[in-house]
Amino acid sequence: MALLPLLEVDNVSKRFGGIVALDAVSFTAEAGEIVGLIGPNGAGKTTAFNVITRLYTPDEGDVRFDGETLLDTPPSAVVRWGIARTFQNVELFRGMTVIDNVRVGAHARQGEQRPEDVLFYVSLHSVRHRPALELPYATQKRVELARALASGPQLLLLDEPAGGLSHEEVEQLGVFIRRMRDDFELTILLVEHHMGLVMSIANRVHVLDFGKKIAEGTPREVQANPSVIEAYLGTSV
Ligand SMILES: Nc1ncnc2c1ncn2[C@@H]1O[C@H](COP(=O)(O)OP(=O)(O)OP(=O)(O)O)[C@@H](O)[C@H]1O
Ligand SMILES: [Mg+2]
Repeated sequence: MALLPLLEVDNVSKRFGGIVALDAVSFTAEAGEIVGLIGPNGAGKTTAFNVITRLYTPDEGDVRFDGETLLDTPPSAVVRWGIARTFQNVELFRGMTVIDNVRVGAHARQGEQRPEDVLFYVSLHSVRHRPALELPYATQKRVELARALASGPQLLLLDEPAGGLSHEEVEQLGVFIRRMRDDFELTILLVEHHMGLVMSIANRVHVLDFGKKIAEGTPREVQANPSVIEAYLGTSV
């Protein structure tokens, strides 16, 4: 019997007035995969995350997790399914310490990780009592990651985790994402503009452009795909 993909985005469309942010987009993520979701600015990547986490309701299509639709679930309950995310623009709780931010993640779901353990894991234990928003940007991103991990997810959505990081930090991040996937048995959906990172860690990549899926394949396949090159360069090659 064929195993169902953990996540199925099935023919999803999402419009904002005249803008078609997602146009009949389908893609899947299999358990244990790191799946890249790439595309130029405005392609619909974050909208896809917002649909999966139920912040947006699609105009058409379905999102299934473990074979069951997520569309009957309110955004506040998505975490209980085992889905966690980080945000393109870090969204930590203002005025709260690092550990209190992570505790929010841990309380969101049964079977969660202990905040102290997660903070050790992401090497933030020594700053756990500092106000999260006083820390450098790269550290804030790690706090967000810790908060997501603390809920004990099966599926982790990362929206531009390399954004604002130095070259060296991006290299470390790549190693870290793979290690997290192995240690916590995660499936990871990775939205990222840093192609070096996507190409080095993704098992498969889906490419969006102006709300449409234009390509899918291994990193090597999509890199060589003329439609993908054209979408990024805006010219034919
Ligand atoms: N809440 C919203 N209201 C109106 N338009 C929106 C909304 N969210 C997204 N859009 C529009 O939908 C399109 C896709 O946006 P989205 O943020 O998903 O792109 P993206 O691929 O994440 O881009 P980037 O790489 O710049 O983050 C854009 O044209 C954007 O302006
Ligand atoms: Mg985005």
